[in-house]
Amino acid sequence: MKGIYNYERRDSVPQKLCAPAAERNKQAILEVLQQYVPQMVAKKTPIQCLEVASGTGQHVAHFAHNLPGTQWQPAEFDTNDFPSIQAYASELPNISEPVFIDASQSPDQWPLQGRAFDLVYCANMIHISPKACTPGLFTGAAAFLIKGGILVTYGPYAYGGTITPESNQRFDESLRSRDSEWGLRDIDDLQKIAGNVGLALEKIVDMPANNKTLIWRKV
Ligand SMILES: C[S@@+](CC[C@H](N)C(=O)[O-])C[C@H]1O[C@@H](n2cnc3c(N)ncnc32)[C@H](O)[C@@H]1O
Repeated sequence: MKGIYNYERRDSVPQKLCAPAAERNKQAILEVLQQYVPQMVAKKTPIQCLEVASGTGQHVAHFAHNLPGTQWQPAEFDTNDFPSIQAYASELPNISEPVFIDASQSPDQWPLQGRAFDLVYCANMIHISPKACTPGLFTGAAAFLIKGGILVTYGPYAYGGTITPESNQRFDESLRSRDSEWGLRDIDDLQKIAGNVGLALEKIVDMPANNKTLIWRKV
């Protein structure tokens, strides 16, 4: 996985890892979040945000810095990433200590009991994790989101049984050849999974590099 994501160390702060892909896409994703978060913050401050699969911590740091009125809870499965997340978080007042979340586990195993979130965010995990993580993410998000809260997922997807363009087909093949559990998931299938736990697809935003941001609302 790290091979795919090609992490680099940042010399200035050795613990801070840098995934070039996250550096490239974080601003475009922020601009989608900026279409939702200010109106949520206008009603309640701070809003509580959970990131599942925080990776290096680059996304949570960029969003926490640029979205006033938000409090972020990073979470990771790979505890080797915790020092990097903590290094980014140490520079900002609105990021909590990372917690361990295995998205394939049921919500009662997530260390968030008694907590509620306005927004759950997850980038690039659905296609690079065991298949059980996809229903697990939706079930966990539905369990911890408040009514009307949103789940934001980012990455490449199939849609209507088709993967486009060809570069995403090749990416899907390379993922499946590395691990039979990995691969692009179809938005149609995600809608069925989401519908079973009370999440409705509200918007599909086309993003650079043939990715999409999906907005799911807890109804
Ligand atoms: C490609 S990285 C994406 C990291 C980050 N979200 C980003 O976009 O830069 C995939 C992430 O999925 C996480 N992951 C893999 N298996 C997982 C699981 N069972 N539960 C939660 N996260 C998992 C990995 O640890 C890794 O952080």
